[in-house]
Amino acid sequence: MPAPRRTRPHGQITRGKTARNRLRKADAFLILYDPALLKRREGDFAHALYVDLGYGAEPFTTLESAARLRTLHPALPVLGVEIDPERVAAAQPYADALTHFRLGGFNLPLEKGETVRVIRAFNVLRQYEEHEVGPAWDSLGASLLPGGLLLEGTSDPFGRLWVANLLRKGDTGLGLEAVVFGTNFRWGFEPALFQPVLPKNFIHRMTPGEPVYEFFEDWKAAARAVIGVKDLGLRQWFIASAEQLAQRGQRVDVRRKLLSRGLLVWRPER
Ligand SMILES: C[S@@+](CC[C@H](N)C(=O)[O-])C[C@H]1O[C@@H](n2cnc3c(N)ncnc32)[C@H](O)[C@@H]1O
Repeated sequence: MPAPRRTRPHGQITRGKTARNRLRKADAFLILYDPALLKRREGDFAHALYVDLGYGAEPFTTLESAARLRTLHPALPVLGVEIDPERVAAAQPYADALTHFRLGGFNLPLEKGETVRVIRAFNVLRQYEEHEVGPAWDSLGASLLPGGLLLEGTSDPFGRLWVANLLRKGDTGLGLEAVVFGTNFRWGFEPALFQPVLPKNFIHRMTPGEPVYEFFEDWKAAARAVIGVKDLGLRQWFIASAEQLAQRGQRVDVRRKLLSRGLLVWRPER
């Protein structure tokens, strides 16, 4: 049978740096935040993919996600997508019946009948221009099933600190559901530590009047207001700062199952 004709992948080859376990916390976040989406099997979700876009020079993060997410859904199909043909070739020895690696871009290289429940794109858009973010999201969103999620973010080289946009596919396309801040506390804790790993749509927006700037001002003030809790440990201080932030009117998720794992979920006003 002839191979299906594909349109040119949208995007460009960028640096391929990655590391083992770099995205462990992002996997943990998805498992805690929306396990039902990962487990869904009815209708179009029966074989719906988890896609890791831009897995880098080696496919470690894709393989690690596959193993972690299959604790919820043992038959979860996983697709790693790379725009660099050499990185796609290098990943082929790791493919199996449920795990595939294909050449592609923001317009995902799906086969006929394939559907997608979640797309994770980490440390990809940071290497693009800010004006390219919206079109990239739209292109990715076109492949998602209704209710599906796009987790698009930036981390430090070890994955100790990260910030991600969480977008949900709704009736009218993708909507920003939340911005997620993740830390394992290895670099300590201060709200300002997250600023260098803000995703591309926020990194140039740290100026007065911008919602992300005002959010950080509030978070820093909240952390200062509960500084006494720091004596109990960084984790306790992080939790207290989030609770204080909520009292100040910021829409943050104060569920302990997230905060105690170093995950702050902020729902910006639309
Ligand atoms: C820095 S690596 C990130 C690797 C991994 N996601 C991580 O966080 O460790 C970025 C990768 O994204 C790939 N990439 C960039 N634009 C892409 C696109 N439009 N579609 C698919 N892959 C893309 C690059 O080729 C590169 O290998």
